Amino acid sequence: MIKLKNIRVSYDKEVGESEALCGVNLEIDKGEFLTITGKSGCGKTTLLKVLCAIKKPDSGEYFYNGTNILSLKEKELCRFRNKSIGFIAQHFALIDKMTVYDNVELPLKYRRIRHAERRERVFDALKVIGIEQAVNKFPHQLSGGEKQRCAIARVLAQDADVILADEPTGSLDEKNTRNIVTVMKRLNSSGRTIVLVTHDKDVAMAGTRNINMRDGRIMI
Ligand SMILES: Nc1ncnc2c1ncn2[C@@H]1O[C@H](COP(=O)(O)OP(=O)(O)O)[C@@H](O)[C@H]1O
Ligand SMILES: [Mg+2]
Repeated sequence: MIKLKNIRVSYDKEVGESEALCGVNLEIDKGEFLTITGKSGCGKTTLLKVLCAIKKPDSGEYFYNGTNILSLKEKELCRFRNKSIGFIAQHFALIDKMTVYDNVELPLKYRRIRHAERRERVFDALKVIGIEQAVNKFPHQLSGGEKQRCAIARVLAQDADVILADEPTGSLDEKNTRNIVTVMKRLNSSGRTIVLVTHDKDVAMAGTRNINMRDGRIMI
């Protein structure tokens, strides 16, 4: 489903900085629940950004269901990001001025989905994740666990085939961590491909495959 070939990324070539990704090869099959571990700074977030096409690599190839992603035009890329891949960013990336409802609905508005269907999808996602009681709250009124669940509900409503999650349990207590793991497993059982970055060994064990990164490389 996903194929990365010899992906290289460096952020600041002029200062002679070392590469964030130095020749990453990775294949991910449909239905996998891949966990990625590795020390801070080893390139995990950069790899997720390449996968959801926010970050264009300096070189390498990226195929998604046979489509050459790095050759797509901006308009097609937007569609790809919105429809095929859902990204749960490390710090949630919720919009402060919007309620939980509006945050979850936003990607669907970009897709010009009709109002009634948007409403249905938003409430379905909030129910699955168990935060429908917070639907009219603003992010600053939510606990860390609720913010995280809101971010997960947003990708769920998108109904993307692949969900990327960057340390989704990083700021959560044990109970909320278990809840998120349960939700991720459930999404995986319902056919979604999951790629999850984590520091937590127990969370890493929840997947169907784990890879370890070091200094911009996959060590396995
Ligand atoms: N926006 C950026 N500008 C410059 N350097 C960056 C940027 N983002 C990440 N880096 C550098 O790239 C390397 C990998 O970072 P990152 O992918 O965030 O690692 P991880 O998520 O594993 O902690 C680090 O050395 C980091 O300092
Ligand atoms: Mg990171």
